[in-house]
Amino acid sequence: VNREQAHRVPADFHFIYVDGVLSLGIGNKPGAETIAVNFSNPALNYRVRNKIKSQSIAKAVGVKPGLRPTILDATAGLGKDAFLLASMGCQVSLFEKSPLVYALLQDGIKRALSNSDARLQQTVQSMNLTLGDFMHCAKDAMASEVVYLDPMFPPRRKSARVKKDMFVLQQLLGENTNPNLLLSHALEIARRRVVVKRSKTAAYLSAMPPTFELKGKSSRYDVYLVG
Ligand SMILES: C[S@@+](CC[C@H](N)C(=O)[O-])C[C@H]1O[C@@H](n2cnc3c(N)ncnc32)[C@H](O)[C@@H]1O
Repeated sequence: VNREQAHRVPADFHFIYVDGVLSLGIGNKPGAETIAVNFSNPALNYRVRNKIKSQSIAKAVGVKPGLRPTILDATAGLGKDAFLLASMGCQVSLFEKSPLVYALLQDGIKRALSNSDARLQQTVQSMNLTLGDFMHCAKDAMASEVVYLDPMFPPRRKSARVKKDMFVLQQLLGENTNPNLLLSHALEIARRRVVVKRSKTAAYLSAMPPTFELKGKSSRYDVYLVG
């Protein structure tokens, strides 16, 4: 994060190094929520190893024996989906618009690259992170086969259950790019397909039915074939 961008940290957020890990905190009370990117997290690696959990996303992007499409993850966030896709052997270009989220992700990638686990190192080597707005990315510059979208939605009512990471991100980022615009841009950029991750019961983006959809436990992947 450069000097110009640094002042954009909202007042009730702070960056803190905990045991060499860059973390973002919300509020200043003891036990305040913090988030960080940790690719050696057991829960994330369980998701990587668990075939059933990773099956829908693999099918959605078109991973098949001997076929590993190139992927542009236009809404990188904390990089979990991108990591899962990279661990299947795909080359993943990640775009993240928020310099704060980008800083967390960059720190997580840097630590993973110097981890003693060779497999982890190899996975992160196929993740190429850019700080930038996907809406400004030109078609020719980004010739990925698949564009993957996991759009951010405004915070929901308190009663709605949102995972901690997403809760902190929602507080930090608030409203974001209109997801319908992300879809129309993605449809212009992708060479083969656009995959949109949605919650299971959410409406289609732009009310546009996908070519097909795949349901995971809590998510749904809407797949739009193009070209
Ligand atoms: C729901 S999160 C993605 C979570 C991610 N799939 C994961 O597994 O961690 C959405 C992210 O997209 C980013 N974002 C939203 N609009 C964007 C845009 N136009 N270009 C790049 N990033 C964007 C937000 O800043 C946010 O970090």
